[in-house]
Amino acid sequence: MPYAEITGWGKCVPPAVLRNEDLATFIDTSDEWITTRTGIKERRVLHCNLSDMARVASLHALAAADLDPMEIDLILLGSLTSDSQCPNTASIVADQLGARNAAAIDINSACTGFLYGLHLGTNLIKTGAHQKILVIGGEFITHYMNWSQREVAVLFGDACGAVVIEASESETGMIASRIGCESDAKYAIQITNVGSGYSRLTDDFLYNAWNFEGQEVFKRAVKAMAQASADVLDQAGMSLEDVKLVVPHQANKRILDALAKRIGISEDKVFVNVHKYGNTSAGTIPVALAEALEEDRIKPGDHILMASFGAGLTYGAGLIKWSNRVSPLITCDAELPPCEKTGLEIIASHVDRYKKHSLESVS
Ligand code: ACO
Repeated sequence: MPYAEITGWGKCVPPAVLRNEDLATFIDTSDEWITTRTGIKERRVLHCNLSDMARVASLHALAAADLDPMEIDLILLGSLTSDSQCPNTASIVADQLGARNAAAIDINSACTGFLYGLHLGTNLIKTGAHQKILVIGGEFITHYMNWSQREVAVLFGDACGAVVIEASESETGMIASRIGCESDAKYAIQITNVGSGYSRLTDDFLYNAWNFEGQEVFKRAVKAMAQASADVLDQAGMSLEDVKLVVPHQANKRILDALAKRIGISEDKVFVNVHKYGNTSAGTIPVALAEALEEDRIKPGDHILMASFGAGLTYGAGLIKWSNRVSPLITCDAELPPCEKTGLEIIASHVDRYKKHSLESVS
């Protein structure tokens, strides 16, 4: 049975920055509260579509693997913020890339979308059903933000990452993985007022609100990620000493610290970029992976542990054995269309819309 080597990787982060200080201009919050509770200093706001970010991240990943899009036979795209319900975003990206031989599947498991995709893609390659797969994880979550909910609005941002996995005879890629779901707690994170479960006849329809039990999610996240991490190490017959770097879902720096403590690994072995981007949901792990490679944090043959959790409440972990190559075969200059606006300017009209709606709901 072949392995699924990660041969390409890429990221796309939008240029417009939204700092904690910017949020404090219209939300009752402060840089001090956000920094001490989450470790986040700023996040990015997208000015085009999720599929645009996915296209750019994918072009970088394809160049790193030196592959033509026509060689890809499957695209798995993890996201909860699709461009549209129909067509699915993986199809839009396939068309934009010219990946005419690829099947295209969206995976909505929220923050675990990339890890779920890598688990599925790796196992599809192992069965021989597919040979070259593009796994994408990304989110345009500011589009779904209710800017009047301070406990949620400060946490998230937009970004996207992608990897190429290819059938290989050498033991490399995701060598152990486990995904799961604590469905009994599915409403601990919920985006309401959009979807066929909501009546179209109410004034609230399309005014997204978030049910968000932050502390409950925090506790469950640490526990589930730690257990799944222990499970994949067991599966591979390895211990934490074998792990060179942990690349976890970036939701909150305090969660990352608690995870490191619970599994018993030193904080300097945990890759952190949540201060720059906030929680980009399905985008966090592939973006962190691309940045870990850019920063020379991954060496040939290293074992890397990934762990994630998100709405659902979905969770998972994967153990990656990196191959001999840690630099791209070809570099690529693909980028998003230019953006003249600041993060605050991009969201201004949405902020006003939510303010007006909450005033109307009260009166
Ligand atoms: N600014 C200022 N004060 C705030 C803010 C804000 N942005 N948000 C909440 N507060 C207030 C609260 O109202 C509360 O005030 P009170 O004591 O007067 O009632 C106080 O701050 C403390 O609130 P807590 O909820 O107790 O704060 P906590 O320390 O638990 O931190 C947080 C909240 C950051 C949300 C934390 O619980 C967390 O990170 N949870 C995990 C969430 C997560 O990572 N989710 C990811 C999955 S999302 C997905 O899958 C799509």
